[in-house]
Amino acid sequence: MSFVEAIAAKRDGRELDHKQVREFVLGASSGSLPPEQLAAMLMAICWRGMSRQETGWLTEEMLHSGAVWALADDRPEVIDKHSTGGVGDTVSLILAPLLAAVDLPVAMMAGRGLGHSQGTLDKLDAIPGWDSDRDRDETLGLIDDCGAAIIAQTSEIAPADRTLYALRDVTATVPSLPLIVGSIMSKKLALGAGTLVLDVKWGSGAFRKTVDEAAELAAALRDVAVATGVRCDALITDMNQPLGPALGTACEVRQAIAVLDGEGDPRLREVTLALCRQAMVSCGFDAEESTGRLQRALRDGSASAAWERMVTAHGGDPDPERLAVPSAELEVAADSGGFVSDCDAEELGRVAAAVGAGRQRVDDELAHGAGIVVHARIGDAVERGQVLATLLVGERPIDRERMVERIRAAFRVGPEPVDPPQLVLGRVDEIRL
Ligand code: URA
Repeated sequence: MSFVEAIAAKRDGRELDHKQVREFVLGASSGSLPPEQLAAMLMAICWRGMSRQETGWLTEEMLHSGAVWALADDRPEVIDKHSTGGVGDTVSLILAPLLAAVDLPVAMMAGRGLGHSQGTLDKLDAIPGWDSDRDRDETLGLIDDCGAAIIAQTSEIAPADRTLYALRDVTATVPSLPLIVGSIMSKKLALGAGTLVLDVKWGSGAFRKTVDEAAELAAALRDVAVATGVRCDALITDMNQPLGPALGTACEVRQAIAVLDGEGDPRLREVTLALCRQAMVSCGFDAEESTGRLQRALRDGSASAAWERMVTAHGGDPDPERLAVPSAELEVAADSGGFVSDCDAEELGRVAAAVGAGRQRVDDELAHGAGIVVHARIGDAVERGQVLATLLVGERPIDRERMVERIRAAFRVGPEPVDPPQLVLGRVDEIRL
């Protein structure tokens, strides 16, 4: 049977069989199918969806299109965490050393920035000397050495995803639930941690704009993980405004250090603690006892000591004085008083990327000193002239006035009091839709 028939079947809303899904994925990784047939199938999947069984096959085939590290075979206790992406989301930098501080090892394959959301690898690159390019043996070495490995995805992992993701990007087929699940989970399962905790964001700055959409994605991701024997749970968290106050690379590293020192932003701390606690509960620990251990680690210096060990083991210099600083700081003030009713996370993420925390083109250099620090949150009462945010100017040439205006316009201040959005909605099973 030719692949055209498989495309026609999906176009007409029929289920593919395992062989057809395999041919599709193999066609992407080996080049045996031309891009026009891959693109047609992607659009048919985007339009018609996939059953749970088809999504499982898709993930399995994408996973086996490349190397499978299966870290749990050697270190069954290793935990991985994945966030569906957001703005001011500095959680990975805190979660890894914090769990290591309570003797739970972590391994994460992280990515670079995508659109308006900054990538964990870009943030770690702000630390002089940090090296994320590690193979499997080096990753195991890092886990043994400091309890936490944060590494770059290698080219041998899920090559089918690279081809399909690039095609999705140019064929408007990114927002498809089965395609997202296959893409994310093939990479997570290739790393192969025994426990996975998912942070699925909803809101204006997230990939999924409603709680329903986020919960649907969370359940689909979790189901694929659990079906392959991974202990997995998903939390739904808010991304209607930036999570932490810092949007950038060096400034987010500083923010992570502040939280690990027992200070820092309460919202960032709350989400990180919720995810760490969930990971510990998935591993069989009691929730209350876990919270106590994590809070103690933040108070007694063991979390910040774990950070220093992690940075040093990855070749980095843990001295925060070595982080890039902005060349100028511009305050963005409210032009009226009232209550903050909106703080457009996506737009602030785009501005942060434009000033140097992200790339406009693949080969753009990051400006590590650049970014934004947000001072006002949804629900806050502000006075006219009060500083809403600070623009950190780095080495990249920018139109400063325009950037300040864009930041100001990202905030909406109204006369009525506003309730801040709930930060951690809970585990996907607990959420009533
Ligand atoms: N992240 C991924 O890796 N893949 C997607 O499809 C979406 C987010």
